[in-house]
Amino acid sequence: MRTYAIAASIVALALAFASPAAAQTPIIIKFSHVVATDTPKGKAAEKFKELAEKYTAGKVKVEVYPNSSLYKDKEELEALQLGSVQMLAPSNSKFGPLGIKEFEAFDLPYLLPDLKTLRKVTEGPLGAKLLKLLDSKGITGLAYWDNGFKQMSANKKLIAPEDYKGVKFRIQSSRVIQAQFKVLGALPQVMAFSEVYQALQTGVVDGQENTWSNIFTQKMHEVQKYITETNHGYIGYVVIVNKKFWDDLPADVREQLSRAMKEATDFNNAQSQKENDDALAEIKKSGKSEIIALTPAQDKAMRDAMEPVYKDVAGRVGQPLIDEFLKETRGATN
Ligand code: LMR
Repeated sequence: MRTYAIAASIVALALAFASPAAAQTPIIIKFSHVVATDTPKGKAAEKFKELAEKYTAGKVKVEVYPNSSLYKDKEELEALQLGSVQMLAPSNSKFGPLGIKEFEAFDLPYLLPDLKTLRKVTEGPLGAKLLKLLDSKGITGLAYWDNGFKQMSANKKLIAPEDYKGVKFRIQSSRVIQAQFKVLGALPQVMAFSEVYQALQTGVVDGQENTWSNIFTQKMHEVQKYITETNHGYIGYVVIVNKKFWDDLPADVREQLSRAMKEATDFNNAQSQKENDDALAEIKKSGKSEIIALTPAQDKAMRDAMEPVYKDVAGRVGQPLIDEFLKETRGATN
């Protein structure tokens, strides 16, 4: 009787393992992010899903959760470390609370003249070195994705540096951005991305800085009278995965996912500029916000006013790192 029961369990077990359902249980990658699907990051996440599922022939299923539908900025990083989600793409400005402040160097005002210069950083040894820093936090950095350049918005006209005095701005959790607004005499306030629209609408803050695609898809232009075309800073992302999850993947699957990531990155970086250009055109068409262009002299006044930020944050991100960035972006040390 006992022998029969043992034999029956062995058969049941063998059947369970042989069943198509067990063989096909996919590896799930939960990919959480905070922006709309119709943005550079939102589209690239969808592209990665499409390619990852194709290249792994269904062995991997990617579930994309856009628009902070799963977690807000800070929670998603904690969730990644705990393994509740496997993949994220936070902006460079959001790694400080994790204890990695070096990515905040990307926030230095007027650091990057264009995206071509940015590539020298992200595709060179400096970009690779920064990704390595994530290892100690149980995170693997896979790629850099562009969004684009930031513009200033408020309910008052922002033209000269003096116009920023006393204005309350929502900022991302970056000390470099905080220093940037403080140097202008403004009042920066850290806030999750998902809360910005309401904070602008209710007057909790007066203004914010963001890319055209983020401003448009979050409808910020509907609650901001003016947007000044400053292009003073850059928003880009680091695509990250839980390190243990990544290391434990079967080697062939990891390889297929790396290929999907490489192609999704190329896709993102080829379309981000257009996404922002299109969003700007839509904002103009809506007539809801007045777009202010700065004259070369006004632009120079803003650059000069923000230059002290480089000295202010040297203690935070490290002068040697700032010099490494400047070597790539301005071709010389400061
Ligand atoms: C922000 O918080 O303003 C941006 O980093 C949001 C994003 O992910 O583009």
